[in-house]
Amino acid sequence: MTNLPGMEYIIEITYLIATALFILSLKWLSSPTTARRGVFAGELGMLLAIVGTLLHHGILEYKWIFIALVLGTIIGVPLGKVAMTAVPQRTALSHAFGALCVTLVGTAEFYLRTPNVPRFMMGVLSMEVILGSLTFTGSLMAAGKLQEILPQRPITYKGQNFVNLGLLAVAIIVAGMLVAHPEKTQLFPLIVGIPLLFGVMMIVPIGGADMPTVISLLNSYAGLSAAAMGFVLDSKLLIIAGALDGASGLILSVNMSKAMNRSFSNVLFGAFGQEQASATGVQEARPVRSATPEEAAAILAAANKVVIVPGYGMAVAQAQHKVRELYDALTKRGVDVKFGIHPVAGRMPGHMNVLLAEADIPYDKLLDMDEINGEFPQADVALVIGANDVTNPAARTDPNSPIYGMPILDVDKARTVMVIKRSMAAGFAGIDNPLYYLDKTLMLFGDAKSFVGSIVRELGGGNE
Ligand code: TAP
Repeated sequence: MTNLPGMEYIIEITYLIATALFILSLKWLSSPTTARRGVFAGELGMLLAIVGTLLHHGILEYKWIFIALVLGTIIGVPLGKVAMTAVPQRTALSHAFGALCVTLVGTAEFYLRTPNVPRFMMGVLSMEVILGSLTFTGSLMAAGKLQEILPQRPITYKGQNFVNLGLLAVAIIVAGMLVAHPEKTQLFPLIVGIPLLFGVMMIVPIGGADMPTVISLLNSYAGLSAAAMGFVLDSKLLIIAGALDGASGLILSVNMSKAMNRSFSNVLFGAFGQEQASATGVQEARPVRSATPEEAAAILAAANKVVIVPGYGMAVAQAQHKVRELYDALTKRGVDVKFGIHPVAGRMPGHMNVLLAEADIPYDKLLDMDEINGEFPQADVALVIGANDVTNPAARTDPNSPIYGMPILDVDKARTVMVIKRSMAAGFAGIDNPLYYLDKTLMLFGDAKSFVGSIVRELGGGNE
């Protein structure tokens, strides 16, 4: 495009507004009450960033950009329509595309500039392609594990961490050699190829249960590689957006690890989830008490205070609207109903908040784990809907449990516990839940949506 007078100025202003919108978006996304505004701000920021870039004088012809936009739209539209439970793997695919783009741009820039690549530029170019390549294959592997195209269980062998970290070290040493001698262009393929292999090897020993945390970490790597690309392309917007992405991804993975009481190194190198393979096969024949929807409705109707604890099963069953009807039916009877939300309930951060918000449950009724835990002893009923690991008291009491130390929702402190799930099957961590064998616990076997629907009918509520 011709460099019209004032065009650079307009582009800079557009980028400035886009940057402000990205920052506001992250701020607003941190609360359910402002999250929708946050999504809108992020989308608008990205639109402005694209428009600003399309106005750039460096663009000589639009043909290839147009083809890429059409291809991107063809791939992007169906990706935007996946089920909520598949969002983690969808997000991983987005990171893979972003990282592939960064790696390709970095490679093109290297070969365009070689043999006169200044040292600083070679340093950021190396960082860009190393992080980009490992994020590309790592994200594809993570998506494959979550979609169950690849085995979920961790695959380990002796000396694995040594081999993996050794691979990364070799890539970094080669990058150092390139910085010192940018004319040794034959080394460049190594700083793309080795991290591509490292990305695969890094994910192989990590169990499916840890994939959401890993995806968040890969998000952070993708952001850092984009920031490095910003230096290469001299784009302040990319540097800022990449840094925001890198920092927020890191903070999110740290928060998720904290919520599971796991260290980062344990997530990455702990091969968590191996128990899953052995534990799922073992079905304990211990007796449990079960109840019908009529009995459950009678208990709920007689309660003064009920805490509902949703989990992954509510998402699978898409039971949130029935849960809303249950909330309405109980509050109409004067029962005090609150929701206890565990930070890692479901399969992605904020999973339960999003579903319950979709069903228009008032935000002030959704209490975080720290806020609600003090209320369980006063609750007549804790109604667990499709949650398992996040309610497992072994995390508090059994030092041998793989989830020992993970903060949980103390549902076992309520007077009566009712658990809606289809069977005695384990949750994602693959371990048994002693909660189900307590005298105060009633198992309500069935699909969450239909069971909650039956309770609502018994209570005389609902839309049917
Ligand atoms: P889980 O422990 O995975 O338990 C979900 C339970 O839902 C299962 O035991 C299953 O039992 C039941 N279920 C499945 N489909 C159902 C249906 N249609 N109707 C009724 N019940 C159904 O879930 P959770 O308690 O939400 O815990 C989340 C797990 O994911 C934790 O281990 C957590 O560490 C892990 N994780 C989460 C995240 C984030 S960010 N959320 C990140 C990393 C790891 P049945 O098969 O018997 O029905």
